[in-house]
Amino acid sequence: MIRQAILLVGGRGTRMWPLTDTVPKGLLPVAGVPFIELQFRLLAEVGVEEVILAIGTSHESAWRTYAEGTTSPVVHLAVEQSKLDTAGPLVAVRDQLDDRFLVLNGDVVLEGSLGQFVEDAPDLPAVLSLVGVEDTSAYGVVVTNDLGKVERFIEKPPPGTAPTNAVNAGMYLMSRSVFDAYDEGALSFEQTVFPSLVEQGLLGGVKIDGVWLDIGTPPLYLQTHRDVAAGNSRLVNMEPAHHGIGANVAGDLDGNWNFIGPGAVVEEGARVRESIVLAGATIRSGSVVEDSIVGWNAVVENARISDTTVIGAGAVVGEGCELTAAVRIGPGSSLSARSVTFEPPS
Ligand code: GDD
Ligand code: MG
Repeated sequence: MIRQAILLVGGRGTRMWPLTDTVPKGLLPVAGVPFIELQFRLLAEVGVEEVILAIGTSHESAWRTYAEGTTSPVVHLAVEQSKLDTAGPLVAVRDQLDDRFLVLNGDVVLEGSLGQFVEDAPDLPAVLSLVGVEDTSAYGVVVTNDLGKVERFIEKPPPGTAPTNAVNAGMYLMSRSVFDAYDEGALSFEQTVFPSLVEQGLLGGVKIDGVWLDIGTPPLYLQTHRDVAAGNSRLVNMEPAHHGIGANVAGDLDGNWNFIGPGAVVEEGARVRESIVLAGATIRSGSVVEDSIVGWNAVVENARISDTTVIGAGAVVGEGCELTAAVRIGPGSSLSARSVTFEPPS
């Protein structure tokens, strides 16, 4: 059993702006469940009771409120005043670390068996979970030998140059002794710690199978909901036409899935297709919302929204507006009637 995990959630989540203006990426809801809770569900399978969240100063208060309201696992915050990169946060909290613990990147969940991973891990100070992918260019590529020892770690090799399709899945089983060699400050697992462990023959790698859930960009956030609604996740469930508590849906929900958050309203005569309408948002009669995300408490008057458009929290999209081409509307903005359109008035 492993008692402790450290989650790296220090990124600003800019690719998910405007939703991440107030809510950290790790707390964005997936089918109504904060993303981080999917990781907690996975960690509970190997007995993790304590989680240290390594955060930056942006979103500190949102994380603090969340941590205070969470009892299982017990959540502690490690707040960094300057960016410490991926391994620096571990050096900063090394006095609080158990002999053995898990480290998770905070922006992806690989739904493989953590129990199997821990069981199969070779007896080395650091062991990476690995997954096979088609396009390796956004990942750390990992070459292992027959005994599960890592022979090469290559972070984001240029397309077409990777020697294997096994990549770092962002979950590590580690010993505290790994950090004895380093001083406090910024430190990268991928650029410094892993290559050094490879040189000393101290890094292991274990392949695991499972669905990847990634909420790093608006298309991936939509894709994650599509996967969950199709029943592909074992960590979270969603009805294909999900209505949150108190949602009022009189309009049409089209396509294979829709997520309508708690207290959201889809008026009669409105149409929503394969979209996420977050808590408290209102889609007024006559509107069409397709492949898009409507933020908390936003209001869409009689308007058309499509193609991965993201509306920030509390924004108002006036009557007759047409928003498309992955446009992003800032939180609290107000677009007056017919102020954005692709057709001049006739
Ligand atoms: N606390 C803290 N401080 N966290 C950070 C910092 C920091 O300064 N910088 C990055 N992180 C967190 C991010 O929030 C993310 O959860 C994790 O560390 C990894 O950083 P990314 O910026 O998302 O890295 P990546 O996606 O390009 O690549 C990493 O993940 C891939 C798997 O998704 C690497 O570990 C790759 O090797 C790996 O394949
Ligand atoms: Mg990432």
